[in-house]
Formats: sequence, structure tokens, C-alpha cells
Amino acid sequence: MKKQLTIGLFGFGCVGTGLYEVLNKTTLLQASIKHIVIKDLSKKRIIDASYFSTDANRILEDGEINVVVELINDYEAAYEIVTRALKAGKHVVSANKKLIAYYLDELLSLAKENQVSFLYEASVGGSIPIIRNLEEYYNNDSLSNINGIVNGTTNYILTKTSEGQSFDTALKTAQELGFAELDPTSDVDGFDAKYKLVLLLKHAFGFTARQDQVWNYGIRQLKDWDATYAREKSLKIKLLAFGTRIDNQIVGFVAPHLIPANHFAFNVENEFNAVVVEALFSDKQLFLGKGAGSHPTASAVLSDISALQFDYAYEYKKSASEDTLNFETGFSVKVYLSATSQEKLDQIEFLETHETYAGQSHSYKIGVISYEEIQKQNWNDASDYFLAVIPDSVQLIKKSELEQENRTHLIEEKLS
Ligand SMILES: NC(=O)c1ccc[n+]([C@@H]2O[C@H](COP(=O)([O-])OP(=O)(O)OC[C@H]3O[C@@H](n4cnc5c(N)ncnc54)[C@H](OP(=O)(O)O)[C@@H]3O)[C@@H](O)[C@H]2O)c1
Repeated sequence: MKKQLTIGLFGFGCVGTGLYEVLNKTTLLQASIKHIVIKDLSKKRIIDASYFSTDANRILEDGEINVVVELINDYEAAYEIVTRALKAGKHVVSANKKLIAYYLDELLSLAKENQVSFLYEASVGGSIPIIRNLEEYYNNDSLSNINGIVNGTTNYILTKTSEGQSFDTALKTAQELGFAELDPTSDVDGFDAKYKLVLLLKHAFGFTARQDQVWNYGIRQLKDWDATYAREKSLKIKLLAFGTRIDNQIVGFVAPHLIPANHFAFNVENEFNAVVVEALFSDKQLFLGKGAGSHPTASAVLSDISALQFDYAYEYKKSASEDTLNFETGFSVKVYLSATSQEKLDQIEFLETHETYAGQSHSYKIGVISYEEIQKQNWNDASDYFLAVIPDSVQLIKKSELEQENRTHLIEEKLS
């Protein structure tokens, strides 16, 4: 039976306002917003001032409010709100990927202990219903890959750089249009996409990755010559969140990829998001939609609220096999690596070289590199380099090969 939902809303910005509007246009849902907590009472709002306060207790201590919707832009303040709400026995809906990627296990335990639901469809892919599909539709153990454009800001910038704009100009335009924040670090350095990948790994494979385990490399170091290289070869550069399960090993990272025209992400442009799920029997399936924006994101929040009418909760059935899974760092991957000089390029050790170019302004190499070598640099800050992964090239390195490689290095070091 449907139950009446009385909502306490935290945040009335882009998504919060959108939620108010979509709720008003939805006739099937028995849900109403009782109170809204924001940060700055002096801001002009589109609805009556009597709805608003800055006092969290007005929601958290109100026994009539059975659902807390957390849509604020501060993950530490959100942690306080969400943990208090769960402890108070209220269902929680959130769109806050950073909060969830940092505190997933703790929040899940709290929800379980207090027998309430904690739903967060809007936190990955905006309007794309990926979490619930991974949770319910792909409710089996046969998923092998999850791969997607999950950050609209960087996809917008990369769309413009592929058309010939410089990274700096494209970023400035994105900021002017409100797609990018004034401090764009979380988007352009791949942090936002990494938080989303942590959630995708949880729901695709039942694996809880610590957010600091996952390599995130963004697009800040993209140079004009890299964009030109891609254009001349009829390729595109896209920032992808990639996760794969090979036997009991999970590999996951966020990095720019150099993709050909037949790749699913090739024509996914501007602020759109797309996620491909690959399973044993259904093969590849593509989810495509608006990854951000007021109403698209609010539609995912609305869907979570609607699910609460029927006491829906994620069951994390795949997490039952979590103990047998490992986060694997012993892998190699094929990459395109450009550098401001041949000398810089030569400082990076490749396992195999497939193509090289040495020019006046820059040099590049395409070849296979170990993740161990990748981890030696903080690539987001390495302004002499730009690296892009070649799709479908991840290979596990057998321990014996690694040991052999290390032995070879030791012998070489002794000889030199
Ligand atoms: N925007 C998108 O397209 C999108 C897409 C997917 C997910 N999300 C996620 O959705 C959440 C909200 O994003 P948004 O774009 O709506 O942010 P936003 O437009 O910046 O709005 C943030 C809201 O949070 C309020 N706020 C900040 N700190 C608060 C606190 N301590 N207590 C109460 N209210 C507080 C602000 O109050 P004032 O109004 O008084 O300043 C504002 O109303 C974030 O977690 C974001 O990552 C956003």
C-alpha cells in the first residue's frame, strides 16, 4: 500500500528548486514538502518564505517528517544531516556522490540499523536510472564491465576541444554557461567521476572501493596538440569512468580515453552522460541521458521518493560475495602519452612501444604501460604530460611476470 510521504528538504539550489517544481507537476505521488532548510535566509526564493529556515532541527526533530531529501553542496554538512536523519528513523534520499563515496559503508549500516531506506539514484548520471537498474535488473553475477561518461562538465569541455577550442577557452565557456564551477578541480581532475565510479562498482559488482584507492586522472593537462592528434586520426578524447571484473579481481579508474568512431561514447556530446553495462548474456547495453541540470536530476530524486511509497530499499545482494573480490593494481594498459620533450617522454617506462613521434613542440608514444608505473606520477599536476587510455586494453599482469620485471630492474640497476 502507498504511504503518505512528508518531506523535509535540505537545499533549494539547482536541484532542490527543480524537485519542488517536478513534485508540483506530478499527480500520482502522495508526497508534500513540509519544510526547507537552506544556508542563506536572505536569498530570494520562488516560493513563500514561510517554508524556509536555517534550523536543521525543524526537519530532523519533526516527527511528522518521514523523508529527508538532502540536496546541499557541502558533503561534510551533508554527513551530519544524513547521519542524524537515519538515526532519527527517517528515510533519506540524496544526490551527493562525494558524501556517499566517502561514507558508504557507515551510511548503509546506519540505514540498516534504523530500518530505513537510503536512496541516491541522482548521484550518478543525473537523470539516467543506472543504480536501480544495476541493483534490480542486473540482479545476477554476470556483469563484466561498466564504462561511462559520468561527468557532463568535462564532456562539454571535450566536445569543444574536439571542435578546435583550447582547453582554457572551453573551460571558461563552461563556467559562463553554469556547467562548470568557479573552482573546477573536482570535475576537470576526475574526482567527481571517481565518486560516481565508486557507487557504480558497488552496485555493478558488489564491491566497496575506497575512494582513495581509485585512480582519477582528468583533462586539465590536455594540450592543443593532443586534441589535434585525435582530430587528425578521426578519434575523440572522452573522460571515462571504467570498471571491470576479471575473475575475482576488480579494476577501476577514471581517465581520458582516446576512442574510435565505433565506440559508444563517440557521439555522446556536451553535457550528456552515457553508461554501458556489459553482461555475460545480454552483452553491451547503453544508458544515455542528461547527466545534470535542475529537472533531469530532480526527476531521479523524484523516482527515489516515489519508490519510498512502496518501502523500496537497495538490498546490495551482490555484496554478499564481496569478501572474495580484490581491488587489483597489477595490470597494464595501452596508452597514448604526449610530453613537452623527448627527454620527458623517455622518463616514463613502457612495457611495449607501438608508435613514437618526436617533434619540435612535443613528442608522443603509444604503447603499453604498467599501472605501477602510472602510480609513480600525480598526473593531474604533471603539466609536461597528457595521457589517454586506449579502450579495451586492460590486461592483468601475472605475479610471476611482475617478479620477473622487478628482477630485471634490479639487475639493470646493479649494472648501471
Ligand atoms: N546540479 C546538478 O546538475 C547536479 C546533478 C547531480 C547531482 N547533484 C548534486 O546535488 C546536490 C545539490 O546540487 P545543486 O547543484 O542543487 O547545488 P546548489 O545549486 O549549489 O545549491 C545548494 C543548496 O544547498 C544549500 N546549502 C548549502 N549548505 C547548506 C547547509 N549546511 N545547510 C542547509 N542548506 C545548505 C544552499 O543554500 P542557499 O540557497 O541558502 O545558498 C543551496 O540552496 C549536490 O550534492 C550535487 O553534487 C547536482
